[in-house]
Amino acid sequence: MPSPLRIAVLASGRGSNLAALLTARDRDELKAEFVLVASDRPDAGALRLAEAAAIPTLVLDPKAYPDRRAFDLELFGKLADSGAELIVLAGFMRILDGEAIAPWTGRMLNIHPSLLPKYRGLHTHRRALEAGDLEHGASVHFVTAELDGGPVLAQAVLPIEPGEDEQRLAQRLLPLEHRLLPAVVALVAQRRLVWRDGGPWLDGAPLGAPMRLSTQGLESA
Ligand code: GAR
Repeated sequence: MPSPLRIAVLASGRGSNLAALLTARDRDELKAEFVLVASDRPDAGALRLAEAAAIPTLVLDPKAYPDRRAFDLELFGKLADSGAELIVLAGFMRILDGEAIAPWTGRMLNIHPSLLPKYRGLHTHRRALEAGDLEHGASVHFVTAELDGGPVLAQAVLPIEPGEDEQRLAQRLLPLEHRLLPAVVALVAQRRLVWRDGGPWLDGAPLGAPMRLSTQGLESA
């Protein structure tokens, strides 16, 4: 049995995806040790959750640094110091500097609220509605220097209901995110999902297409 995966989480907001990871750990569905929760915002709910769970926290103020690279080099230096083996971006709302994150290639995941490659960046729910899409969803991907552009590992798909608005769509998607992210992180913790030869591998073979979340959990495409 592999040792618990040392995870650091970056979050800018309320932290419901962090909460889902902690719940998965508490239920023994995720063998992990949370070594740090870091944020660019002192008021992030994620920090309060971490404090309540006795996880070390870190806040860095981007305004205290001359530029993005200086901030990111400091942040990712601190993440390295934490001993983290995996970084999870759980609602971290900053663009990352390619040089600062290069050492973390294959060791950093992001959850993004769209069916990537659709709708990188912001306002994903609104954009899916405006486009008249029939389906929306969330993706977990390995982070590369390209914004929301790294290899997609798994997706949760949600049919869009006629007449629903942005807020309702986001609200209906969130519980799927809360199942998707821990399920992918658990595969990494089991050392079943790894980065090898420049891409994701699952159970000893290259991951051809993103896995899909069903009621049973993650399924291969
Ligand atoms: C989640 O919906 C996540 O997918 C999104 O931010 C929200 C964070 O919620 N992430 C992004 O938009 C990243 N580009 P939370 O703080 O409650 O986990």
